[in-house]
Amino acid sequence: MVDSAPSLVRLLEPEVLANPYPLFEELRTKAPVYWDPFLHAWVVTRYQDVVRVLHDFSADRTPTPEYLEKIGLGDIAPIAQVMVKQMLFLDPPTHTRIRSLASYAFTPQRVEILRGHIRDVVKRLIDDVAPRGEMDVIADLAEPLPYVITAEMLGVPVEDAPQLKIWSQDFAEMLGNFQHNPDHFPRVRRSVEEMTKYFESAIREIKKHPREGLIQSFLTAEIDGDRFTEEETIANTIVTMVGGQETTTNLIGNGVLTLLRHPLELERLKADLALIPSAVEEMLRYEPPSQHTARLAPYDLELGGKEIRKRQATIAVMAAGNRDPERFPEPNRFDITRKDNRHLSFGWAAHFCFGAALARIEGQVSFEEMVRRLPDWSLDEGPLVWRTNLGLRGLRSLHIQFGTTERYKSYISGSKSA
Ligand code: HEM
Repeated sequence: MVDSAPSLVRLLEPEVLANPYPLFEELRTKAPVYWDPFLHAWVVTRYQDVVRVLHDFSADRTPTPEYLEKIGLGDIAPIAQVMVKQMLFLDPPTHTRIRSLASYAFTPQRVEILRGHIRDVVKRLIDDVAPRGEMDVIADLAEPLPYVITAEMLGVPVEDAPQLKIWSQDFAEMLGNFQHNPDHFPRVRRSVEEMTKYFESAIREIKKHPREGLIQSFLTAEIDGDRFTEEETIANTIVTMVGGQETTTNLIGNGVLTLLRHPLELERLKADLALIPSAVEEMLRYEPPSQHTARLAPYDLELGGKEIRKRQATIAVMAAGNRDPERFPEPNRFDITRKDNRHLSFGWAAHFCFGAALARIEGQVSFEEMVRRLPDWSLDEGPLVWRTNLGLRGLRSLHIQFGTTERYKSYISGSKSA
């Protein structure tokens, strides 16, 4: 607990990044709506206030490329050029238009088709590690699964997946951070330029040789004669690709860690795989892969007794709202059977996660196969290293050990001793 005014900037301290929840609790109890002088933004931490911000505030927060040129930040204008066309940064009516066209392309049937692939990919990845008796959950499962599925979802060659992953990680710097690392901008800019070129050429290829996938559906989606421009297709392909990778990786990594830290819950899950869906929701609530997001006040208003001025930046901390005792009884308890678990981890209202259904399947299948096929998990000795992305919370690596295939065989035949 800190004595002076708490600031979200403290996430830059490694021990706070490793466990930000005491800071969030302090904010929520002492200053639930407060002006952070370092971030120059309001920070909002109570469940109901986070809902209000996500529901009512403006998502249109990216400075225009023209404005950036004017204030001497022309170097990052190409990044903004893409962001201003992405659904994540738009308000109605443009957001409604883009999201409707995108949803028209990303149907529940498409997600269902991916479900079978997801199980195959997870099984293959687990087959690879099962005889070893140890794995790095991040490198061996949590990263490759979403990157393969994302490439398949988009309809680009799976061999390109590792490159898409690198670009996604760079772009995620812009999404998850407080832009406190201007020295990273040139790399992000280069990635955006390369990604744009890559998708321009993918679109040319798909137009010549149609290939099932989201890009083709974006190109052909039409509502009342309205269609995406090529620039809109590229911008929203990028946000879908990035949105689908870092977060899903973190759901799997953070989820495994949380289960290891709560062995009784892990045992309950092993004993009853029907608990997988509610366990995944609880992992999302307890250790959200996407911890906070930003908005601008749409007009002068009052929130939590504070006067917020039109266009002032506001950070909604979903990870803090998820542990608000006013909303969740015993919020710091990890309970895989928790009922009434309407957490904030996929956001709320118009910008509610576009890929939530897919993310849930990826999470559920991963945990089901891991629990089913890898017995006796234990955490390797050694410090946990968290990524320095302050908003997209996840580990760099997560080394665990488990029973090997031989022990596994006896485990499933029922002869395994504890
Ligand atoms: C566990 C995994 C995931 C988590 C925790 C997550 C979280 C979120 C959150 C919190 C938002 C709202 C952000 C805001 O309001 O500012 C969001 C939006 C979005 N997500 Fe996800 N996401 C996940 C997986 C995915 C996947 C798999 C995809 C792609 C298939 C995806 C694509 C998107 C897109 C495109 C948006 C923007 C929606 C809009 O602005 O209308 N996400 N996600």
